[in-house]
Amino acid sequence: MVFEPLATAEAVMTHDETELGALLIDVGSGTTEYALFIEGEVLISAVLPIGSSHFTNDIAMVLRTPFAEAERLKIEHGCCLEGLLDAHEGVSVPAVAGGPVRVVPKRELCEIMQARAEELFSLVRQDLDRNGAAECLRGGMVLTGGGAKLDGLAELGEQVFNCSVRYGLPQGLGGLVDVISSPAWCTASGLLLYGRAAEEDHERNRKSAPFSVRQMVGSLRSLFSDLV
Ligand SMILES: Nc1ncnc2c1ncn2[C@@H]1O[C@H](COP(=O)(O)OP(=O)(O)OP(=O)(O)O)[C@@H](O)[C@H]1O
Ligand SMILES: [Mg+2]
Repeated sequence: MVFEPLATAEAVMTHDETELGALLIDVGSGTTEYALFIEGEVLISAVLPIGSSHFTNDIAMVLRTPFAEAERLKIEHGCCLEGLLDAHEGVSVPAVAGGPVRVVPKRELCEIMQARAEELFSLVRQDLDRNGAAECLRGGMVLTGGGAKLDGLAELGEQVFNCSVRYGLPQGLGGLVDVISSPAWCTASGLLLYGRAAEEDHERNRKSAPFSVRQMVGSLRSLFSDLV
């Protein structure tokens, strides 16, 4: 079993970042996983039961709009930091069951999302504080996962963790790189890289392992026991 942030780190983080001290935060749909790397090792890692779908739920509940509309509002108009908004913009919010469409200030949408984003980051920050690691982010923070695309999340992260924040993009794979060049593909890419490295290790060990009669008899025995 591979802990996903470690596989994600394989695809997105640089040697310098993991050595200097960097925080990887993967914001998924239902969960957020994070891992703090220092001197190449993982010092802290955990999974929180909050993800991007919770932002959608909050929007649906507070603005009383269908979940599909809440998801659209989040992606098209959402922002997690009020300071980034233009003054008096509004967004159209359809009502549940075909009621009239209302125009709501973007600021209201942002308030809902910022509250959730602050909750999420403050839980991670508290964990760093508890472990005396809040000042260890010399390499900054890397955001991955579909939820990383929430507008304003990186800027809020800079404020909460007092460090530089960048989006993680998968590295080290060929093929359809344009398609997978997104924070949402980091974990999948990392798992592929992890699998490839494990396979190469296995192949190397197999080639270098000395011939052993006992091993061969064991393999034959398990082959026959599979057949009967
Ligand atoms: N442009 C966008 N802006 C904001 N959120 C987005 C955007 N695109 C996708 N998302 C959100 O990303 C989430 C999916 O991300 P991801 O694919 O990383 O999740 P997952 O890995 O399937 O979930 P989990 O890690 O919880 O199992 C969805 O909740 C979706 O709303
Ligand atoms: Mg995920």
